[in-house]
Amino acid sequence: MKKITIAIDGHSSCGKSTMAKALARDAGYIYVDSGAMYRAVTLFALRHGMFDETDRIDNVRLEEAMPGIQISFKLDPETRMPQTFLNGENVEEEIRTLKVSSHVSPIAALPFVRAALTRQQQEMGKEKGIVMDGRDIGTAVFPQAELKIFVTASTEVRARRRYDELKSKGQQVDLEEVRKNVEERDYIDTHRETAPLRQAEDAIVLDNSNMTIEEQHRWLLEQLQTRIEKD
Ligand code: DC
Repeated sequence: MKKITIAIDGHSSCGKSTMAKALARDAGYIYVDSGAMYRAVTLFALRHGMFDETDRIDNVRLEEAMPGIQISFKLDPETRMPQTFLNGENVEEEIRTLKVSSHVSPIAALPFVRAALTRQQQEMGKEKGIVMDGRDIGTAVFPQAELKIFVTASTEVRARRRYDELKSKGQQVDLEEVRKNVEERDYIDTHRETAPLRQAEDAIVLDNSNMTIEEQHRWLLEQLQTRIEKD
């Protein structure tokens, strides 16, 4: 069957990666979590002391370091879940901490970071048969994607989902702090100058506030089927 490019964009913590992973698995497509790439760069910057005490980024050092930041994905042989590697080290868990979450938006707003990661993402999607999720996949990375989904859910629902996820990983978190982080990231993601989060004109909107994971999954498979049948 003909393979297409699927772009899934939307607000943070609305379950994009869960649905994108399941869709990729069932369609036999590659899955790429572009947010993990921004998180990996953020982790690199944190580890190398590139944030000062007021959280300002040392842009010059980060830009110099960019060519040496290699990000890749490998499937865990047991769980079959994609793992993010930063210069050969598995950083899947570390990039999901609240520390990385609260530093990632300003990193993702830097044009030189976006340019480097967008190039890598386009390279990964050259052969199609890819599901990529993020904020600018349907608008900047793959504007020609055949299927674009824009996902959203209420702030309360998203904060609760993120909170439950962090708790289940044993992290100590406060619901109010998580809600603030979700709101802050929405604001920065939608207001930055380079490739802000916005719905592509030809994207299909999915508000999953009141949907189960199974319902979403079925809905997505239907969209894929309909899109493939159209050609
Ligand atoms: O999806 P996520 O929460 O893991 O993404 C982490 C951050 O990276 C988020 O604050 C926005 C940013 N991001 C982006 O700017 N562009 C993308 N394509 C993906 C993520």
